[in-house]
Amino acid sequence: MEEKALMSAHFTVPSMLLLLLSLGLCSVSLAAATDSVHDTFLQCFSKNSPANISSVIYGANNPTYTTVLQSRIKNRRFNATTTPKPIIIVTPLNESDVQAAVVCAKNMSMQLKIRSGGHDYEGLSYVSGVPFIVIDMINLRSINVDIPTETATVQVFARRLALAAIITGGGYGIMLRKYGLTVDNVIDAQIVDVNGRILDRKGMGEDLFWAIRGGGGASFGVILSYKIKLVRVPEAVTVFRVERTLEENATNIVHQWQYAANKIDNDLFIRLLLQPSTGKVKGTKTVKATFISLFLGNADRLMSVISAGFPELGLKKEDCKEMSWAKAVLFWANFDNTTSVEMLLNRTSDTVKFLKRKSDYIQNPISKDGLEWIWKKMLEVGKVGFVFNQYGGKMNEIAETATPFPHRAGNIFKIQYSVSWEEEGSEAEKNYMTQIRRLYSYMTPFVAKNPRCAFLNYRDLDIGINHHGNNSYDEGKVYGAMYFKANFERLVKVKTAVDPDNFFRNEQSIPTLPSSI
Ligand SMILES: Cc1cc2nc3c(=O)[nH]c(=O)nc-3n(C[C@H](O)[C@H](O)[C@H](O)COP(=O)(O)OP(=O)(O)OC[C@H]3O[C@@H](n4cnc5c(N)ncnc54)[C@H](O)[C@@H]3O)c2cc1C
Ligand SMILES: *[C@@H]1O[C@H](CO)[C@@H](O)[C@H](O)[C@H]1NC(C)=O
Ligand SMILES: *[C@@H]1O[C@H](CO)[C@@H](O)[C@H](O)[C@H]1NC(C)=O
Ligand SMILES: *[C@@H]1O[C@H](CO)[C@@H](O)[C@H](O)[C@H]1NC(C)=O
Ligand SMILES: *[C@@H]1O[C@H](CO)[C@@H](O)[C@H](O)[C@H]1NC(C)=O
Ligand SMILES: *[C@@H]1O[C@H](CO)[C@@H](O)[C@H](O)[C@H]1NC(C)=O
Ligand SMILES: *[C@@H]1O[C@H](CO)[C@@H](O)[C@H](O)[C@H]1NC(C)=O
Ligand SMILES: *[C@@H]1O[C@H](CO)[C@@H](O)[C@H](O)[C@H]1NC(C)=O
Ligand SMILES: *[C@@H]1O[C@H](CO)[C@@H](O)[C@H](O)[C@H]1NC(C)=O
Repeated sequence: MEEKALMSAHFTVPSMLLLLLSLGLCSVSLAAATDSVHDTFLQCFSKNSPANISSVIYGANNPTYTTVLQSRIKNRRFNATTTPKPIIIVTPLNESDVQAAVVCAKNMSMQLKIRSGGHDYEGLSYVSGVPFIVIDMINLRSINVDIPTETATVQVFARRLALAAIITGGGYGIMLRKYGLTVDNVIDAQIVDVNGRILDRKGMGEDLFWAIRGGGGASFGVILSYKIKLVRVPEAVTVFRVERTLEENATNIVHQWQYAANKIDNDLFIRLLLQPSTGKVKGTKTVKATFISLFLGNADRLMSVISAGFPELGLKKEDCKEMSWAKAVLFWANFDNTTSVEMLLNRTSDTVKFLKRKSDYIQNPISKDGLEWIWKKMLEVGKVGFVFNQYGGKMNEIAETATPFPHRAGNIFKIQYSVSWEEEGSEAEKNYMTQIRRLYSYMTPFVAKNPRCAFLNYRDLDIGINHHGNNSYDEGKVYGAMYFKANFERLVKVKTAVDPDNFFRNEQSIPTLPSSI
């Protein structure tokens, strides 16, 4: 079944849906050396795959190379002439091509980068500091929905939302308070391992299957597909989006929102955006808090849930809109209400900006004084905004070690720091990068400590880099502890068992155990 089939499955069986629909994702080496890498790879690939090379392999001299490369660059920071480019891009048409690419890159000891949607915030799927090859999963995009078993098998590039890379990082959707993360609903997977073998859950064993549900796929192999347990959603859901400025009691409401995470109905998820904004009085600044919600029920029940658990919001019935789940996904993706649901299949309209993101976890509610101090710093810094994602509910019930994603009970929300800009040039980049790092530093007293935590899917190279190639466990431990807490040690053990020579590596991959241990 093709992409479209999943959509029609939504409509013929309206109560059944995929868990995660909310995404809405050098080296100028000597020419001669590059040519020889290209030729050797081509020869090896032809021997290992029956594919028509001209529709699968793009060398830098191929006229289509630039189009293929740029088509999934989602952050303009990595679209510069100085950005390191791959020697070759491989776009497999099927599993055999993936196997051939792995076998050949391994044979040549070439760094291999794997790209699905290209949304990695640091461009790790298509940029590297050493000569490299990109394997681009664009053509592997089927979804098979099996209604009787309520499961779906999604290939890595499914629905242009690149589900698999999101899943390997522990992907969350707007129903996480009810159903947990996507990784909590994965029941099988297929991976091409370092020896070019295709392994399913049974073949790879429970340790590797555990690792690729949140540990980041790129350290372990090329993920071909995940099998996901579908969840039921009601035929109609309710959404709202309400804004409150500081003058409209935002501090008080944000303060109370923190307490709602652990007590409010699991059918409700409220995301909070906080942005510097201009005040009503000319020349003044304020902070605008936007509460965006999905409720798995009707507006009447939502009103009673809010009045019992979060009355400070001052929600009115007319703020609530009942709609189908598919329409709610569009609402969340910021489309206007006349957009057809077919737009869900069309992400080409996203405008690409320069981006930087960072993350933190909050384990103790921030006091009103604390919030007021943070607003002051936010306005002082400039343009950086926050996205607060409420946790609690099902997230509290899943053990920290059940998957590599460790941010479970005890976390009341996750912060994404966000800054996007459109001005070109290194001065602008320096300015915005400094802004976001300053705000992150101001937040230190309020966030999780020992370790300070981070979300793998919000990739942030500021928190540490493993100088690829040298297998450094000590370097890996720095970001590893922040992304995975104690699960890092188990990930290292799995990595050492399945890829002892560290072929699948990147700037923040899981290192192997130091040989001295
Ligand atoms: C607009 C936007 C919205 C987002 N919303 C959410 C959200 O709601 N929930 C959430 O959890 N995250 C969200 N994210 C973060 C997103 O999950 C991560 O950026 C994720 O890495 C994107 O996957 P991708 O395939 O697009 O990335 P890529 O850049 O293609 O890959 C990311 C990483 O995964 C590796 N990888 C890619 N494909 C494979 C594969 N087949 N096998 C092994 N490794 C692979 C890459 O090498 C790289 O290290 C969002 C990001 C953006 C830009
Ligand atoms: C992959 O495609 C090639 C043709 O390009 C075909 O010969 C081969 O059988 C296919 N392999 C699989 C596993 O479908
Ligand atoms: C390979 O594909 C190219 C272009 O896609 C086409 O021109 C060529 O005839 C194909 N070769 C074979 C052997 O099918
Ligand atoms: C990347 O830059 C090229 C010009 O070099 C431009 O045509 C293209 O639209 C840019 N793509 C993105 C995603 O910024
Ligand atoms: C690469 O492949 C060639 C030809 O099959 C083989 O002789 C060589 O040993 C391989 N090298 C490695 C490092 O696997
Ligand atoms: C702000 O919140 C306080 C405490 O809940 C309340 O007493 C006050 O009326 C609210 N003010 C506005 C303008 O809503
Ligand atoms: C769409 O939104 C507009 C403005 O918010 C509103 O007037 C209109 O009734 C909405 N239409 C539908 C079909 O919900
Ligand atoms: C997808 O979006 C683009 C840009 O907005 C538009 O030109 C194109 O027609 C859309 N395609 C579909 C199938 O809606
Ligand atoms: C790895 O590289 C870093 C930076 O170049 C260096 O500090 C570190 O000592 C290296 N580690 C090993 C084990 O070589």
